[in-house]
Amino acid sequence: MSGAIILYEAALGLGIASGPLVGGLLGGISWRGPFFGTPALMAVGFVAIVVLLEPLPKPARKVSLVDPLKALRHRGLLITGVVALFYNFGFFTLLAYTPFPLHMSAHELGFVFFGWGLLLAVAVISAGAFLGVIDTVLTEAVMRVAPVERPVASVRAREDSPARGRTRRSDEVPATPKRRLDVTGQAKVIAFANQKGGVAKTTTTLNLAAAFAEEGHRVLCVDMDPQGNLTMSQGIDPETLERSMFDVLVHDLPISEVTRTCEVDVAVASIDLAGAEIAMSMKIGRERSLDRALKAVRDDYDFVCIDTPPSLGLLTVNALTAADKVIVPVQCEYLSMRGLLQLQHTLSMIRENLNPNVDIAGILPTMVDTRTLHAKEAIEILEENFGDRVFGARIKKTVRFAEAPVKGMSVLKYDPTGAAADAYRRLAKEVLSNG
Ligand SMILES: Nc1ncnc2c1ncn2[C@@H]1O[C@H](COP(=O)(O)OP(=O)(O)OP(=O)(O)O)[C@@H](O)[C@H]1O
Ligand SMILES: [Mg+2]
Repeated sequence: MSGAIILYEAALGLGIASGPLVGGLLGGISWRGPFFGTPALMAVGFVAIVVLLEPLPKPARKVSLVDPLKALRHRGLLITGVVALFYNFGFFTLLAYTPFPLHMSAHELGFVFFGWGLLLAVAVISAGAFLGVIDTVLTEAVMRVAPVERPVASVRAREDSPARGRTRRSDEVPATPKRRLDVTGQAKVIAFANQKGGVAKTTTTLNLAAAFAEEGHRVLCVDMDPQGNLTMSQGIDPETLERSMFDVLVHDLPISEVTRTCEVDVAVASIDLAGAEIAMSMKIGRERSLDRALKAVRDDYDFVCIDTPPSLGLLTVNALTAADKVIVPVQCEYLSMRGLLQLQHTLSMIRENLNPNVDIAGILPTMVDTRTLHAKEAIEILEENFGDRVFGARIKKTVRFAEAPVKGMSVLKYDPTGAAADAYRRLAKEVLSNG
């Protein structure tokens, strides 16, 4: 981005340098010349933008005209805005009145601007890094406090993304997201864990994340499973990935470098992640690799949802160490509930040694087949053992959950009005209301 800003500033300098000179020349031919010259140049600029600018993904929410005004509720932005107002007022007043006391002719004035513009262009290029940093800081500050959609993933990652062009169209958004203005807080990190396989960890990670996003929250999903199911369920082929969570955990690559913008942002995984446990085993602080990686982006999101593999190995330990809360999806069968004791044991070890604050947010009954007595009994056993830690939301068995990932979508997008989507919306409300 700073490169684009430097180029923009340099072009501005060249424009200031050449504009008045060309204007003077055209004015020499006819007084109408400058009046035609300006719109002609603007038309060239407009055509260049239309032809050269790469298409950007449509924002999930239309930015309204009042959003920039709402952003002024942020004190820092208000002060920056007022200072910029005075600065520009003073600057352009000076510009407009300079020719009078200096008694300059139109051509002399043109040369003053020419020299000034040239200096600006040269200064911007030579001091580009410095100015670029200031501009980037200002632009970032404004974007952070403004309630405006913005892509968080790195541009390169998005360019590679096969999901590109398949990003959500604004008319596909099922509900109007309510964007929070309070963006100063850090993301809440939720890990989805159960060492038993096939209990809907991945399904729950993606669909709860999509439900948070629908409510206007900024969400990052992290795929910590070498199977890459979460990555696949957003339409990304793990085999095509050059870099993945492996590089984040083992080589400390910034997580934004492996983040793709889909329905939500997804930090992608592929089979090479299976080698991460061994590769990390020599690292000091190997349990905290994910926690460290997330620190850099915790300000950019409201929720980080981590999908874990069906084991209690180092990848899951990393997820539990980075997490504030753990959601445990449980398939409503007696056998699949026995593993919960083991998970609780692992969690208490993590609390003692690595992350004293992590706690179970709740246990989620999944794949509930309401027609069977067995499912009812299984939920009763869950409630006897875990009381109000069992979520009120129940995820029923339906083929929609198998169909949606094939299309590279969450169930909320695939079947927005269905009961399956509503169940995850209800879960989102429960999680949000429990703080
Ligand atoms: N409520 C549901 N009803 C029917 N099928 C479901 C439901 N939830 C998930 N599934 C299906 O069950 C399978 C396993 O789900 P999922 O991949 O989410 O489990 P998982 O716990 O992440 O598995 P793993 O342990 O292998 O990572 C998937 O095919 C998914 O589509
Ligand atoms: Mg999974």
